[in-house]
Amino acid sequence: MRDLTGRVAAVTGAGSGIGRALALALASEGCQLALCDVDEKGLSETGKLLEARSAKHSLARVDVADREGVFGWAEQVVEDHGAAHLIFNNAGVALGATVQRMTIEELEWLMAINFWGVVYGTKAFLPHLERAGEGHVVNLSSVFGLIAFPTSGAYNAAKFAARGFTEALSIELRAAGSPIVATVVHPGGIRTAIARNARIGSAEPDVISLEERERLFDETARTTADQAAQVILRGVKRDKRRVLVGPDARVFSGLQRLFPTLYQRLLALAAKRRPTGIV
Ligand SMILES: NC(=O)c1ccc[n+]([C@@H]2O[C@H](COP(=O)([O-])OP(=O)(O)OC[C@H]3O[C@@H](n4cnc5c(N)ncnc54)[C@H](O)[C@@H]3O)[C@@H](O)[C@H]2O)c1
Repeated sequence: MRDLTGRVAAVTGAGSGIGRALALALASEGCQLALCDVDEKGLSETGKLLEARSAKHSLARVDVADREGVFGWAEQVVEDHGAAHLIFNNAGVALGATVQRMTIEELEWLMAINFWGVVYGTKAFLPHLERAGEGHVVNLSSVFGLIAFPTSGAYNAAKFAARGFTEALSIELRAAGSPIVATVVHPGGIRTAIARNARIGSAEPDVISLEERERLFDETARTTADQAAQVILRGVKRDKRRVLVGPDARVFSGLQRLFPTLYQRLLALAAKRRPTGIV
């Protein structure tokens, strides 16, 4: 979709980070915005930033893990804006826990948001995009949807699944000659609130505080949310099926492709050296 002017774009998790930056960048492209989040305060702050730019927008408190809620929101978006052309399934959370120690409930919590949230958003909006005669489904995976990482098993499972789901959809749409495009996005470290909002597994030993994790994350995450949004929109405008965000994402993608098992040995070695187990 080369020209986004006048299109209606829906973004989940728009109260912070990449979702907020996407909303602002889409507004600059002349889009109307339909935004949702569970964090009403963050969402209303995004709304204020859009008001300052006179961008037409609607805000809704929607939990992407709630199937009825997401389908209801999609109907509401079309009622409020007249159509829907783009859906960014962006809302996400993180969990730091080894596979051995994470509880099934913790895994289910993460999958409900990071995987099922993507599925519901895609399924709820796709018929509306088809009705509009053009559209783009943009699903946020991660570099952790390309490579596995210690203490990220739940996150890896959801992000690998989001990638498989989106790539299958993309192939189906192409095969059917559909005007809809599906893109999977793999950001590397992006400086957002994701580490602050992360949960640590309830059975994890208390070797590192959440503040320390945040500090480590901020040190390694080099790309800003605004830069990430620009890269994602460039990919959308070029109908890219896969978008890598940040130099670290390109390095990890290359590492995975060239050394699909060696990278695991290297990460295990690095994890062994750290008291946290986090590389
Ligand atoms: N920041 C990174 O380094 C990074 C890297 C790779 C992928 N990602 C992915 O990018 C996406 C955006 O993350 P971010 O970095 O901007 O994080 P963030 O924490 O800054 O923003 C995530 C937003 O999602 C919202 N959210 C959480 N659970 C929700 C739910 N159940 N329903 C609706 N909204 C919900 C939060 O309230 C928050 O506003 C996520 O899918 C994340 O996994 C982030």
